[in-house]
Amino acid sequence: MMEQWYKGLKILEGDREMSREDRLKALEGPLLAWYEDHARILPWRSSPEPYQVWVSEIMLQQTRVEAVKPYFLRFMEEFPTVRSLAEADDDRLMKLWEGLGYYSRARNLKKAAIIACEQYGGTLPDTYEGLLSLPGIGSYTAGAVASIAYGLREPAVDGNVLRVLSRVTASREDIGKQSVKREMEALIRRVMPEKRTGEYNQALIETGAIVCVPNGTPKCGECPMESLCLASRRGLTEEIPVKAGKKARRVEKRTVFLIETSDQILIRKREGEGLLASLYELPNLDGWTEGKEGMDRLGIPERLLLESEELPEARHIFSHVEWKMKGIRLRLSRIPAMDQGEGLPFFVRKEELESRYPLPAAFSPYRRLV
Ligand code: ADE
Repeated sequence: MMEQWYKGLKILEGDREMSREDRLKALEGPLLAWYEDHARILPWRSSPEPYQVWVSEIMLQQTRVEAVKPYFLRFMEEFPTVRSLAEADDDRLMKLWEGLGYYSRARNLKKAAIIACEQYGGTLPDTYEGLLSLPGIGSYTAGAVASIAYGLREPAVDGNVLRVLSRVTASREDIGKQSVKREMEALIRRVMPEKRTGEYNQALIETGAIVCVPNGTPKCGECPMESLCLASRRGLTEEIPVKAGKKARRVEKRTVFLIETSDQILIRKREGEGLLASLYELPNLDGWTEGKEGMDRLGIPERLLLESEELPEARHIFSHVEWKMKGIRLRLSRIPAMDQGEGLPFFVRKEELESRYPLPAAFSPYRRLV
């Protein structure tokens, strides 16, 4: 029988017939002991208030911890309370989110903050169901806020946790499936402790982030769950978790224009719903276009053109789409007469492009050339 000691906790593992529940129940002690020693010091952990936990968890979806830190600190400085977020100016909110991507997360944060002010007196609801009812909050975020901020006994199963749990139990089920996630949530709900629920959930997340890593070889030698982990024992950590192939990204060609006078540049606010809605953008057209055709399509009179310059190609990867871009700089002698109104392009001073208007990262390769 194999034995392992961690901080005085004896972990016995010889029973291959152990049920999934018993296996997961046995993780609790070593996992919590490991977390006490290894939890990273992160800005949102120092005071796990509901608002801080919520904002950090939303930022951490799709974004790495190191990238999130400065965004989180700036966000808390400018919007320190639910109420200040509910009253946030949309452009300012998007400017603070600029570069994090998945901007609907920020729009939903504000929508949820407004509801929290209208229905919950300016705090977040303190039940799992109440949290789940808010825009942008799914089962993972509801469980994370409920357990970390309120100490409630609710699971928080994200991609990290699914990877850890499917390895520990050597499950070959597809972790991309909602049904598999629901099953794992139900399983954790059965086995998780009554107390220290926030630490328990974060310990699972943390091992997933720094030990049972997604890319490359997991650091099984550093893992508090090693002796209980069936994938490690059977040499299956490369094969598990199983994640069925995602659909290939659609590739779209676009032409991006820097339409400039000596000190101003043309931009437009994107309208409606969907990708990048309510952010600003550099003028851009579907497909790869020549400068002259672009001027026609954008309604810029040719007589104002001083110089046209081809800019390097660039690409940007969104979750489901890839933009393959080419750029064209059009230097104009003066600002043309243009209709004004919502959704129509307008000229801004070049410095303001940096300080005031949120522009998605997709345009960064060309913004740098302004
Ligand atoms: N990733 C998602 N949630 C996290 C958290 N609370 N701490 C560290 N990494 C995370």
